[in-house]
Amino acid sequence: MKHGSLFIFSLLTVLQLNLFAQHPTAITVQVDKPISEIQPTMWGIFFEDINFGADGGLYAEMVKNRSFEFSAPLMGWKEEKSDKFSLNKESGYALILNQGGEESGKGSNSRFARITTTAEKGYGLTNEGFRGMGIKKDMQYNFSIRASQSEGSNLKIRVELVDEKGNVLGETLLTPSGKEWKKYTASIKSTQTESKGMLHVWFDGKGSMDVDMISLFPSDTWKQRPEGLRTDLIQLLADLKPGFLRFPGGCIVEGRDLATRYQWKKTIGEVDNREMIINRWNTEFAHRPAPDYFQSFGLGFFEYFQLSEDLGAEPLPIVSCGMACQFNTAEVVPMNQLDPYIQDALDLIEFANGSVDTPWGKIRSDMGHKEPFNLKYIGVGNEQWGRQYIERYKVFAKAIKAKYPKIILVSGPGPFPDGELFEYGFKELKELNAEILDEHYYKNPDWFFQNARRYDSYDRKGPKIFAGEYAAQSVAIASPDNKNNWQCALSEAAFMTGLERNAEVVHLASYAPLLAHAEGWQWTPDLIWFDNLQAYGTANYYVQKMYSTNKGTHVLPMLSNKTPLTGQNKLYATAALDKISNEVFLKLVNGSDQPQSSEITLTGIGKLSSKGKLIVLTGDSPEAVNSFERPKQIAPVEKEIAVKGKKVSLTLPPSSFSVVKIKIN
Ligand code: AHR
Repeated sequence: MKHGSLFIFSLLTVLQLNLFAQHPTAITVQVDKPISEIQPTMWGIFFEDINFGADGGLYAEMVKNRSFEFSAPLMGWKEEKSDKFSLNKESGYALILNQGGEESGKGSNSRFARITTTAEKGYGLTNEGFRGMGIKKDMQYNFSIRASQSEGSNLKIRVELVDEKGNVLGETLLTPSGKEWKKYTASIKSTQTESKGMLHVWFDGKGSMDVDMISLFPSDTWKQRPEGLRTDLIQLLADLKPGFLRFPGGCIVEGRDLATRYQWKKTIGEVDNREMIINRWNTEFAHRPAPDYFQSFGLGFFEYFQLSEDLGAEPLPIVSCGMACQFNTAEVVPMNQLDPYIQDALDLIEFANGSVDTPWGKIRSDMGHKEPFNLKYIGVGNEQWGRQYIERYKVFAKAIKAKYPKIILVSGPGPFPDGELFEYGFKELKELNAEILDEHYYKNPDWFFQNARRYDSYDRKGPKIFAGEYAAQSVAIASPDNKNNWQCALSEAAFMTGLERNAEVVHLASYAPLLAHAEGWQWTPDLIWFDNLQAYGTANYYVQKMYSTNKGTHVLPMLSNKTPLTGQNKLYATAALDKISNEVFLKLVNGSDQPQSSEITLTGIGKLSSKGKLIVLTGDSPEAVNSFERPKQIAPVEKEIAVKGKKVSLTLPPSSFSVVKIKIN
């Protein structure tokens, strides 16, 4: 651009901005002309066991490697003894025995520790937890252990909760008896709060004892379910009022190789018998190694279904389609050996929905849920691409539809939102009349602003869309320097106006990933960050929440100059009617760094309440973030606004996301 034209351009921009300051943008919302329905599933949750999302996160177990099944059997444990390197002076030792096989009666959890003590006191095991244990003052902690005394032994088990320096915060004593494996339990109350607590398990007396499944849970688990989930994290999820819960991922469905794919049948039944495996995120990023990341499956498929029910969310399980992660080994099952994978999918539907007279329905019932879980959706594969996927999807679709015609299938056009792989997958799946396509976008904030119109041109008669994984990346995809900053959150809010406006096509959407442990993460950004004591929602979390808790049932036309606001003067907007609560929800994003005024007229409506609610989310700067120290630095602020007849006048703050709620009388 030449200097002269640059000057004229700048002048025009300034004039334009001034014009906006003086003349509000006139917007109309046609309340009597709903465009389409908004599905109850519209805004949901994507859960994956990444970033210590399950073990060390949602699953409230505080002991890491409780059954000695990690590759290094004593990882997470430290032997406490008087002299480690002297056979004569040491106070005791632990041997890891691997009985293996079913005959042991220990199922796939075949290892245990044989403790031998040579002094009356001074031998024990310390567990470090998941980067420490979060222990709260006055909270009861439920300890349990499986133990079997050796012939003639009478060891006692002294259990201590300790702080980082080893000061005792609470203790208890157990006196196991007999050779039979039995579960012993005790409860300990802590006198202090400690973020880096540990668990000491001392073996007092001389003798020998076998131990396994050494476990510690807080008593305040979600719905007080014993050995359950972490309440504060689930509460953050419940506050989103999610329409669906997708589980268990993500790449974890596929596994780095087929051996480490997610096999739901191994995650149900007695917790002791759920086979522990390495978490694929253990080794994924060389710059974020997590050698202590395994999957105990204490949070397994039964618990996912139960959680969906608790949250009022449709369960949306994704199953392996016989293809391991194509970014890793890209192993595939030969087509003539696909049957067990298909059977797993069919059995899963029976597990969720079958009557108690069916084999899998009975297992569900025996686990405590006689009624079906009413599964409606199932996803075939995660981020698969290419001919191999289409080939396999066809076989899955045929088998599932033959037995369960009402189950809605989710398939995917690959990991990217455009390009050759995407085009190919989309075209093929559309030709197969695929019902819902799972699209993923991890892009920079500009992409999100620019793609508010992405779905305007989608074929209304084609497959419906599940925006299954998205998050603005402040630096680059999966960069460890990505931040959950305000600029990213705002760009997602702008993009989501396009999702809502196109609810005729977009039936489900979820931010990803969901959870990250502050010391155990592999991938950033994430919706919710936590440590062992606290958790906070990011700016992105509040964007999601403002959408999902102000969802509505129908999309309304919201026009300025007869066109939807999709970035003109950096304004983005969408409107919804809630036919159940009789409310209109307006969502407006001001992506510019200037305030913008608007005058909104609601047409085709009788009387409106004279007062509405305005909820505004904004950050001090594009780089602003929430943190443990300032968890609500960016959080919605609510106030009342006047509705004059059918008009609302608003000044949208610079870089802000606003929701207006107006009751129809
Ligand atoms: O959300 C993190 C990962 O990103 C998911 O596991 C995968 O599906 C995507 O590539």
